Amino acid sequence: MSGHTDMTLVNDEGIRIDGRRCDEKRPIKIEAGVLKNADGSCYLEIGKNKVLCAVYGPRECRPRHLQDPTKAIIQCKYNMETYSVSDRKRPGTDRRSVEISKLISEALSNVVQVELFPRASIDVYIEILQANAGTRCAGLTAASVALADAGIPMRDLIPAIACGKADNHVVLDLNKEEDNFGQADVPLAIVPSTDEIVLLQMDGNMTREELDHGLDMAFGAAHEVYDMQKAALKKRYSEIEKKEGATDE
Ligand code: CDP
Repeated sequence: MSGHTDMTLVNDEGIRIDGRRCDEKRPIKIEAGVLKNADGSCYLEIGKNKVLCAVYGPRECRPRHLQDPTKAIIQCKYNMETYSVSDRKRPGTDRRSVEISKLISEALSNVVQVELFPRASIDVYIEILQANAGTRCAGLTAASVALADAGIPMRDLIPAIACGKADNHVVLDLNKEEDNFGQADVPLAIVPSTDEIVLLQMDGNMTREELDHGLDMAFGAAHEVYDMQKAALKKRYSEIEKKEGATDE
C-alpha cells in the first residue's frame, strides 16, 4: 500500500487494469466437498486467487491444555504456499500467517455453535495455492463453506470481500497491483442474516465518505458471494443425494 506509483490503476474511462469497473468483483468459483479424507472441504477461486480449505472435527482437542470445558475451540491454520506468489515465499509460518489464522478463527467463532462441543477442537486448514491479493477474504469465505460441508452447526455462513481506494477511485475487491500500489485496502467479512461485521481491517487512507461508499459496495458484493456459497453447498447436497440413491438401488 504505497500510494505512489506511475502505474495507471484506473483509466480515464473508469476501467481497471484487469478490465473491471470500480464496483465489480473478480469472477468467483466455489466448490464444496472436494477432499475425500476431510470432514468438510471447499475449493475457491476469486480472480487469480486459488484457495483450498479442509475442516476436521469437532474432535478431541490436542494439546489437552487448550481444551475449553465450556465450548469447542476453532484452530485455524492459514498457509501461503511457497509457489503461490511470484517471488518464492519462505515456507512455513510467519507473522503474517499467524495474524491471518487468528483473525479468521475469531471471525468463524461468531457463527459456529462452539458451545455445543465442549472440550473439542474444530480444525480449519487454509492453503493458498495461488495468491493475487484478497487471500484472507478468500480463505474465510472458503472456510465457512467447508465448515458447513462438515455438517458443523452454524448460525450463518461468512462471506468476505475487500473494498479500497486506487488512483483516487473507490474500488471493490482489489487485485495485487491495486493492493500494492493503491491508497487503501479494507477487507470486510459479514454475517449476512444480521449484517454484523466480523472482520474489518484498514490499511492506507480514505475519507469517511469514501469508506462509506466502499463499505456499501463491499456489503452488496458480500451478499452476492453468500448466494454463491449457498449454491455451492446445495450442489454438494444434491450430489450426495444422487450417490446415496445409486447405492440404495
Ligand atoms: O492476501 P491478502 O490481501 O489478504 O493479504 P496481504 O498481506 O494484503 O497481501 C496481499 C497480496 O500480496 C497477497 O494476496 C499476495 O498476492 C501478495 N503477497 C506476496 O506476494 N508475498 C507475501 N509474502 C505476502 C503477500
